[in-house]
Amino acid sequence: MSLAVVVGAGGGIGRACADRLADDTRFAGVLRLGRRSVPPLDLLSEPSIAAAAAWAAEQGDIRLVLVATGFLHDARFRPERGLRELDPAHMAHAFAVNAIGPALLMKHFCPRLPRRGRVVFAALSARVGSIGDNQRGGWHSYRASKAALNQLVRTTAIELRRHNPDSICVALHPGTVDTALSAPFEKAGLDVRPPEVAAADLLVVIDRLETAQTGGFFDQRGEAIEW
Ligand SMILES: NC(=O)c1ccc[n+]([C@@H]2O[C@H](COP(=O)([O-])OP(=O)(O)OC[C@H]3O[C@@H](n4cnc5c(N)ncnc54)[C@H](OP(=O)(O)O)[C@@H]3O)[C@@H](O)[C@H]2O)c1
Repeated sequence: MSLAVVVGAGGGIGRACADRLADDTRFAGVLRLGRRSVPPLDLLSEPSIAAAAAWAAEQGDIRLVLVATGFLHDARFRPERGLRELDPAHMAHAFAVNAIGPALLMKHFCPRLPRRGRVVFAALSARVGSIGDNQRGGWHSYRASKAALNQLVRTTAIELRRHNPDSICVALHPGTVDTALSAPFEKAGLDVRPPEVAAADLLVVIDRLETAQTGGFFDQRGEAIEW
């Protein structure tokens, strides 16, 4: 039984992706994981990640893991506008949610993926995590934690290829999407899309990925983004 797993299925993009995958007959089911799921998965708790991964693997063959979690701001922390706003607690939280948590998902899910046939591990990153594309500065914690995520994806892709030669492990930029994460920063003139449209585009990109593209960083049109 082929399954898709969406981590962060309670978020704007994650929910839309899970709903769309539920209508995809290639998957017998979609496992929606997050802090409020059963079992619960909290990126700040490795035991919860390990337990959720073990549970998921017992449900069937996991053919797709889509990581749709992420942190940009909350009641405590806003994206930095300059060096004077750097706060170690903010930076640590961004790295915990955006880089270390997804790395632990890779640690616990990848060994449980089938060893034959197409498997995809896709993590939502962000174009602002591209070092080469950084023209404006600011948002230090978010940018740096997404750059770290991209490196972790690339590193995992190499190891996952040894586990399954048909595997694909990628970082994806969803475009600017109307969710709680982006809402405070939506400006006139930005191409902000509804989560349902973004989900449809992301799943087309995932469908079209070839194994030779593993380890890459792609946008919502499937175009490679520079590191
Ligand atoms: N929206 C955009 O314009 C945009 C642009 C570029 C990249 N992205 C990326 O796309 C991804 C999805 O973002 P979104 O816009 O859908 O944001 P969102 O609606 O705020 O969803 C974020 C998700 O992350 C989950 N999460 C946060 N901390 C967690 C933790 N400790 N453990 C488990 N889950 C946790 C949230 O879980 P709860 O439901 O439990 O809070 C929620 O499901 C993120 O990686 C983001 O960086 C978004």
